[in-house]
Amino acid sequence: MKKILATIIFVATYIAGSTIAMANEPVAKADATPEPTKAEVLARGQQISGAVCVACHGLDGMSPIPNNPNIAGMPPQYIAKQLQHFKEGSRKNAIMAGMSAGLSPADMKALGEYYFAQRPKYNAVARDKDLAEKGQKIYRAGIAEAKVPACAGCHGGAGAGIPAIYPRLAGQWPEYSLAQLKAYASGERKHPMMSTITTRMRDNDILAVSEYLAGMRPQ
Ligand code: HEC
Ligand code: HEC
Repeated sequence: MKKILATIIFVATYIAGSTIAMANEPVAKADATPEPTKAEVLARGQQISGAVCVACHGLDGMSPIPNNPNIAGMPPQYIAKQLQHFKEGSRKNAIMAGMSAGLSPADMKALGEYYFAQRPKYNAVARDKDLAEKGQKIYRAGIAEAKVPACAGCHGGAGAGIPAIYPRLAGQWPEYSLAQLKAYASGERKHPMMSTITTRMRDNDILAVSEYLAGMRPQ
């Protein structure tokens, strides 16, 4: 036991020593690739977006059709994380699996920063007023008897999302929100918080809140 402990201490001291030595090594620093500037990151994001993503998400992250989510103004870390999940297959979607297959972590980060920098313009609307009103109640106050928390608590009072992890929901296509909430409920899309929440909601609650999100207009 003593011998193992001594070995651990020796190894730990050795690693700590070599880290300090490396940090003091000027050559290692000079060889490292410099961090890209913010402008370079955004330019990279725009380049990939214009070449690949534009057909379905628009150049500015506003998607022309309801099955493709609007992604303008989404938290950059959220976008990068979803792209990683599509690539790994932990979020399943045949189209996005293909689109993310060739992206490096740096590309994903660049795309996140690029779309976050795009100002959301609104294309979706809430069509059913009564349904949207019911959705608004759930969004703001949750459903007490079903232990569903207020959506506003995590996605922001106006639905603009909260970086880093809470996606923007305002102005989203209702078809897309509905499909995602159902996917969390069925376990097809996995996330502990959203799965718990959606399994406590009835179909009509999910429909109502999706309708409300479409018409939200944060400043
Ligand atoms: C052929 C159409 C198509 C192309 C091209 C495409 N996407 Fe998608 N994208 C989709 C669809 C459809 C979904 C919804 C997937 C789902 O239902 O889970 C999606 C979902 C996403 C999401 C998840 C959004 C969210 O709110 O969770 C991100 C991020 C995304 N795409 C980014 C990109 C990027 C970046 C590119 C370019 C490299 C790209 N997409 C190219 C169709 C496309
Ligand atoms: C405890 C925090 C929390 C609460 C409360 C919450 N959410 Fe979420 N929600 C999240 C997180 C985190 C994600 C991203 C999960 C992931 O990475 O898949 C998310 C994702 C979503 C998405 C997918 C967005 C997209 O672009 O794909 C929708 C839709 C959504 N939430 C709607 C709701 C609604 C409606 C409510 C209220 C009934 C709600 N959320 C309450 C944390 C929360």
